[in-house]
Amino acid sequence: MKKICFAVYFLIRGATLFAEDGYRLWLRYDKIDNPSLLQHYRNIISGIQFPASSPTLIVAKKELVDGLEGLLGKKLNVAERQNIASVRVGTFSMPLINSIIKNDNLNLGNEGFFIVTKKINGKNNILIAADSDMGVLYGVFQFLRLLQTHQSIEKLSIISIPKIQNRILNHWDNLNRIVERGYAGASIWNWHLLPGYIDKRYIDYPRANASIGINGTVLTNVNANALVLTKLYLEKVAALANVFRPYHIKVYLTARFSAPIDIGGLKTADPLNVDVRNWWKQKVDEIYNYIPDFGGFLVKANSEGQPGPQSYGRTHADGADMLADALAPHNGIVIWRAFVYDIPATQNTNAETQTFAGLPYSLNDRFKQAYNEFKPLDGKFRKNVSIQVKNGPIDFQPREPFSPLFGAMPQTPLVMEFQITQEYLGQATNLVYEAPLFKECLDADTYIKGKGSIVAKVIDGSLENYSVTAMSGVANIGNERNWTAHPFGQANWYAFGRLAWDYNFSPAQVADEWLRQTFTNDLHFVEAAKKIMLMSRETLVNYMTPLGLHHIMGTGHHYGPAPWVSNAGRADWNPVYYHRADSVGIGFDRTEKGSNALSQYSVEVKTQWEDVNSCDEKYLLWFHHMPWNYKMRSGKTLWEELCYKYYAGVDSVRWMQTTWEGLKNYVDIERFEQVQMLLAIQEKEAVWWRNACLLYFQTFSKMPIPPNYEKPDHDLEYYKAL
Ligand code: GCU
Repeated sequence: MKKICFAVYFLIRGATLFAEDGYRLWLRYDKIDNPSLLQHYRNIISGIQFPASSPTLIVAKKELVDGLEGLLGKKLNVAERQNIASVRVGTFSMPLINSIIKNDNLNLGNEGFFIVTKKINGKNNILIAADSDMGVLYGVFQFLRLLQTHQSIEKLSIISIPKIQNRILNHWDNLNRIVERGYAGASIWNWHLLPGYIDKRYIDYPRANASIGINGTVLTNVNANALVLTKLYLEKVAALANVFRPYHIKVYLTARFSAPIDIGGLKTADPLNVDVRNWWKQKVDEIYNYIPDFGGFLVKANSEGQPGPQSYGRTHADGADMLADALAPHNGIVIWRAFVYDIPATQNTNAETQTFAGLPYSLNDRFKQAYNEFKPLDGKFRKNVSIQVKNGPIDFQPREPFSPLFGAMPQTPLVMEFQITQEYLGQATNLVYEAPLFKECLDADTYIKGKGSIVAKVIDGSLENYSVTAMSGVANIGNERNWTAHPFGQANWYAFGRLAWDYNFSPAQVADEWLRQTFTNDLHFVEAAKKIMLMSRETLVNYMTPLGLHHIMGTGHHYGPAPWVSNAGRADWNPVYYHRADSVGIGFDRTEKGSNALSQYSVEVKTQWEDVNSCDEKYLLWFHHMPWNYKMRSGKTLWEELCYKYYAGVDSVRWMQTTWEGLKNYVDIERFEQVQMLLAIQEKEAVWWRNACLLYFQTFSKMPIPPNYEKPDHDLEYYKAL
């Protein structure tokens, strides 16, 4: 009997040890499984001195104690003041910090921190300190990360200061809890139960965000509902803001431009109308009564049917400035989006007629619209207005060139908008690590002030001395137990935060630390899984949109291939508008002979991409309509290269599958099987993409798929019917 009891006990214990539902994200704090390292850490960390009086310091202290006790598997001596402490944490004055780190020129700002090893009374101590409470919080998370990723803590000398001021998640969450482009369940904001019920997630959410440096969150969808600005909802928003505040997460809301009409009883939302302006002033004052540190508004206006100032013959600047004036007394900001492409619906024409808005395709290119509308407004915005620009000119494609607006508005702070949720990247079934995509854009050279004027330096304000800087990421979070549905979706949330803090981190470095914290420090696992992550984005580009193809996904839902679609309501919603395949070739001519979108870039960029000989082939079909038999740098024809890329994409997914299979013994069974099943779906989808696209493009190229490649298992009609 006793034996059976023991067996059952160990079975249950085993199960709980290995059951991993992913809820804890990268903050797992399990006991370090390497005995000698554990002993080493235990020797160094004998106790903690951490005087904590403010709400932020209190949560930081709790995090540090919980984290260290979990990782070290023992109780620690924790005190406000004590001699045995070897880890000392707190806010120090800047002169003291300067004297400790022997650098008078350093300014940690209000978020930076340092972690150093220092001899105190003849004994080595680890100091985690900052000039501010939030700096201490960030320092604590960094210190825990060192242990979680098994780094040496013997001689520490770390100084870390964020490069971007506002690092913000954008939730596209509707008040009915449907998340636009969300693939991880319903919205985590349970408006029905708020403000009375504080879900545990509302605490773990800011913890996770603070651990990677995110300091702001827009709670609601850019396709906004004015109801969130009513008293009923502001009370709920305030409840969330109260929980987030200790973690230094500011709350922002989306402002529907027609709110004065929708909820204010006015007849107009004209930004120059006195009643409208007063309404917004009062509304903003009211918001600050509820949320004294409210961040401000994110606004999508005159785009995809959203109301905006242009409806009253006013400009984006008129609209943004009105809101900015209301927010300025409270130090709030307006983040106005540049994702605009409205034209009167009457001017829409069918893509097959080869005209658009009454003009030939070539003259009317959605690529150009944001630049055309915003560039002339540079200098017209108030100081507390920033313009939020999507990384690319179209819409979060697997690969886009950087938006030409970056660098084009020297007098207006520009905010980078990345999309973490995988709208066009296989949604919740595809493993795609996005750090390489983010980095590709941040590292791109705009040449706006000569060589080295990379997008990151536009965003961080260093090129133009912006007073406000920000980076936004459209969240991939929902109420799925593991937050992001795909276990590797967590890595994209993580990577966004880390790169917003410091864009100099490499994708490999970020993947490495995420894997170690989220799964295991076992090197065999980390190296193999890292390879999967680092190749995953290029793999997806290959089986979806190689060589500069873009926007050929299913219209509306953007899932799966649909390059043949030509009957969507607007010309520029049609895949045929973007790939322009015909008997001659494929690709969108954006040179002077075509839409001339390239003229929106600095001359160096334009020259480089306009010449097919210097244009990077990964962007070729973004800018050129090329003949099917064009000789690529590999020696293959364009058609052969296209085939090669699509097939390589599928092969890579298969490689990812096999590699993951080999990691079974290193991962808990729950997450292993989850990823295994998702990779199998991804393989099917990659084959679907490859076959559908090649069979369709073949109707134009009239060239064979090389005989040594596996044959598509269905015909084009089959794929069209899916
Ligand atoms: C894309 C997306 C929409 C979203 C829009 C935006 O077009 O499909 O769902 O509203 O971007 O960024 O505003």
